[in-house]
Amino acid sequence: MTRILITSAIPYINGVKHLGTLVGSQLPADLYARFMRQRGAEVLFLCATDEHGTPAELAATKAGLAIEDYCTQMHETQAELSRGFRLSFDHFGRSSSVQNKRLTQYFAGVLAENGFIEERSEKQVYSNTDGRFLPDRYIEGTCPNCGYERARGDQCENCTKQLDPTDLINPRSVISGSTDLEVRETKHLYLKQSALKDDLDAWIDSKTDWPILTTSIAKKWLHDGDGLQDRGITRDLYWGVPVQKGEEPWPGMEGKVFYVWFDAPIEYLACAAEWSDANGTEDEAWWRWWRTDEGADDVRYVQFMGKDNVPFHTLSFPATIMGSREPWKLVDYIKSFNFLNYEGGQFSTSLGRGVFMDDALEILPSDYWRWWLLSNAPETSDTEFTWEKFQAGVNKDLADVLGNFVSRITKFCRSKFGQEVPAGGEIGDGGTALIAELEGRISTYVGHMEAMEVRKAAAELRAIWVAGNEFLQAAAPWSTIKTDVDRAAADTRLALNLIRVYAVLSAPFIPDASAAMLAAMRTEETIWPGDLTTALSRLPPGHGFDVPDVLFRKVLDEEREEWAARFAGSDN
Ligand code: MF3
Ligand code: ZN
Repeated sequence: MTRILITSAIPYINGVKHLGTLVGSQLPADLYARFMRQRGAEVLFLCATDEHGTPAELAATKAGLAIEDYCTQMHETQAELSRGFRLSFDHFGRSSSVQNKRLTQYFAGVLAENGFIEERSEKQVYSNTDGRFLPDRYIEGTCPNCGYERARGDQCENCTKQLDPTDLINPRSVISGSTDLEVRETKHLYLKQSALKDDLDAWIDSKTDWPILTTSIAKKWLHDGDGLQDRGITRDLYWGVPVQKGEEPWPGMEGKVFYVWFDAPIEYLACAAEWSDANGTEDEAWWRWWRTDEGADDVRYVQFMGKDNVPFHTLSFPATIMGSREPWKLVDYIKSFNFLNYEGGQFSTSLGRGVFMDDALEILPSDYWRWWLLSNAPETSDTEFTWEKFQAGVNKDLADVLGNFVSRITKFCRSKFGQEVPAGGEIGDGGTALIAELEGRISTYVGHMEAMEVRKAAAELRAIWVAGNEFLQAAAPWSTIKTDVDRAAADTRLALNLIRVYAVLSAPFIPDASAAMLAAMRTEETIWPGDLTTALSRLPPGHGFDVPDVLFRKVLDEEREEWAARFAGSDN
């Protein structure tokens, strides 16, 4: 059986994610996972929260919570929202897990043994009052360029000048406000990515089937400017994976943690370990997904992410894996996405601009969002969410086409033949032509889904729904019944069967509506339609059904206006 490992970029813990983040990784990953499971593959679909780093510490302080408690709460919030969007993770892990701590320390240890880690001395700001080194973002002062008094150690927000903490006039600690600061010498670990440049280069070159968006970003970082830089992988923070060489202490690194971007991708492995531990399987059972010497050479590993994540997944994380010189699995395919913008600008967490996952579920069920976002996924360029486009797309595709088809034929049948699939007659040319058309379209649809061409797959699915509607319109059993009851019965039988086939085909996009359609047809048969003539007779004459509640309602003009105003953000 085909085995597929699927990971979505793991979202930062600090705060609820907006729809742009959702459509750039988790949602298309879920689409692919659901489709592959339906096609009979053994799928392991993993995601987690990315919990370390300065932004998490700052968010916890702002919320007045201990960082551990903050992360536990936010993890639960994000898990709940994932369930709301029907993201079918096999495990939703945490980068702060013991499994990740162990693996991160392990990788650092083997990288050091293999000579890929270097210690470098640096000057850094130390706060005597706080008793710790301060990362750039923890220092504020007056900008030497524009005089803005709340410039941060890495950048002035007012004039955008990039700064070093030592450039600031009257620097103070963000934690305590203390000005009792001094510059001290401190040591940090660097991953010698440059020593792996040739390996990375050859590996990227071998990936001729990858999306251009993915390889162009990777090649740019490999070859442009100064080329691949060595990367600092430790920080002076409290919250993170303590720096150790495997299980041994690392002299000179006391009190330091690994940089969040070092431990976050290792969570992809750790998450499999968490999943395996949670299921009580034996030690290292997850290695069959991750170690090529333990069976994972048969696994196809696919990663989903936004374009901002591509350098880390094409260079830094592979450098960690390659530098271990151990048979851990490298990714086979990276599906990356451009950005989704919001109403002519960007989504903004700080300004509350745009729709966030919690808002979205509060106003409409998840299928509406899933359909619109996936059918407008930013694959070839950045795309834009506007309320007008959203309303138009949802109302047309879901309400006018799919919803209308289901309601029209079930209601018609109930009123003329009763709530059972009618017997008798043979389909005419219209039905035969429909089957031929659908056969072609379904195979095109499968091709796009296998290739992870999300928008093209959505367009084909839409065309599949439209074909059913057009057939019904032309066959018009409500007219033919007056002259040819048998023909009307046969066409009705075909259309009722089509509801079940639609439910199966559409499930990866709109799982709730799909379940409702199957329930209405009183069937649990969800196997992929092979031969369509057979698939369209699975509900035989006499099979009972129900007229479902409205599958999709329309988004009203008043709602559209209200929501546009509500989510415009605090600057409007
Ligand atoms: N948290 C990062 C983001 O949201 C993604 C991390 S992906 C991983 O952009 F590689 F680190 F796992
Ligand atoms: Zn400035």
